[in-house]
Amino acid sequence: MASRRSLLVVFVLSLIAVSPATSLTCSTQKLTNSNLYSACLDLPTLGSSLHYSYDAANSSAAVAYVATPSKSGGWVSWALNPSGTKMVGSQALIAFRDSSTGAMAVKTYNISSYGPVQESKISFEVWDMAAEENTTDGTMKIYAKIKVPGDASKLNQVWQVGPSVTDGTPDKHDFGSGNMNAMGTLDLVAGQTVATSGGSRTKKKNIHGILNVISWGIMFPVGVIIARYLRAFPSADPAWFYLHVLCQVSAYIIGVSGWGTGLKLGSESSGIVYSTHRNLGITLFCIATVQIFALLVRPKKDHKYRFYWNIYHHGIGYAIVILGILNVFKGYNILRPGEKWKSGYIILIAILGGIALFLEVVTCIVVLNRPDKTTKPYDGYTNNGQSRQEPLAP
Ligand SMILES: *[C@@H]1O[C@H](CO)[C@@H](O)[C@H](O)[C@H]1NC(C)=O
Ligand SMILES: *[C@@H]1O[C@H](CO)[C@@H](O)[C@H](O)[C@H]1NC(C)=O
Ligand SMILES: *[C@@H]1O[C@H](CO)[C@@H](O)[C@H](O)[C@H]1NC(C)=O
Repeated sequence: MASRRSLLVVFVLSLIAVSPATSLTCSTQKLTNSNLYSACLDLPTLGSSLHYSYDAANSSAAVAYVATPSKSGGWVSWALNPSGTKMVGSQALIAFRDSSTGAMAVKTYNISSYGPVQESKISFEVWDMAAEENTTDGTMKIYAKIKVPGDASKLNQVWQVGPSVTDGTPDKHDFGSGNMNAMGTLDLVAGQTVATSGGSRTKKKNIHGILNVISWGIMFPVGVIIARYLRAFPSADPAWFYLHVLCQVSAYIIGVSGWGTGLKLGSESSGIVYSTHRNLGITLFCIATVQIFALLVRPKKDHKYRFYWNIYHHGIGYAIVILGILNVFKGYNILRPGEKWKSGYIILIAILGGIALFLEVVTCIVVLNRPDKTTKPYDGYTNNGQSRQEPLAP
């Protein structure tokens, strides 16, 4: 059976396509007074990192932000935003080389609108500010201590890098996706516990990634392809049904394990919350669970509600496939295991799409060549007119 073979190919490819992540690690960066910081984060964009520790007694944090300006002679910036999640409202620290003194400077900016920034007071107390540039690799570091505004377990942070500074004023940054997505939630309290577990966390993230790519990203779509196309061939009936159930139930089991590892990772998150990825994951778990249990209440084939059940089942199924693939890409962007793994997955999805398109054409031809053209190809199990025992009917 061609599709079974392609299924095998897909699985083998998927195992090759997923492998351990190699990401930059803030833990190898050298800092002045590095013992001040108990935790560090590789921020998701702009190759930036944040080192920090939180002093609950004084409700203050020591932070060190490390980034490389987009061009030499540029600037780097890190900010907390007490009033929003984006740039406007940010209380920013910006570091650059001051052309009048030739020394590195770090200044504070109350960013109240898009447009040129102006040095100003900011809404929280900040002291011990310093900036450094490593002229060998071009990285800049901002050091500061801040009185934490509001809830230390739920702060909005924004970071940025820029290409140039004119007359002591940082010029506007680029508008690439890395720049536009340089924001996130910072949890100073939770981050304290993970400072030393970088290695095992990376391993956990990889396991999470592998389980979820295999289940949500590959097995669920393959199961849908099986159900949609194999049933058009009378000889594949009822094999397609068992294959479909086997595939989706295994995908569900693997997917739930992957989901569990994701929740675990989220609960011990190193300060950053990936809300879209998390919410998509939770949604996927819920609708997939409903989908699995919907099998138990499936009306008999000739029941008048079966038609509606089919619409419901197919709708949810396609939603799972779309959201699943979307969330795999969200995951790739968080874990950033290297371009080749993402490209590998894109190729795999393209192959699956190609197989689906091919089968769409083939099944159309099969159906059109049937003597009894009144039967539709996709109206459910055993559609070739013969009566048969329903495998899962109660
Ligand atoms: C506590 O916070 C104040 C600012 O509110 C600061 O001047 C002081 O140095 C901080 N103490 C410690 C131990 O960081
Ligand atoms: C920052 O700018 C906003 C808008 O102009 C203003 O309302 C706010 O008081 C400013 N904050 C500080 C600390 O100056
Ligand atoms: C500057 O960067 C280079 C290259 O990454 C590194 O080897 C060196 O230790 C850095 N210097 C300092 C003072 O951090």
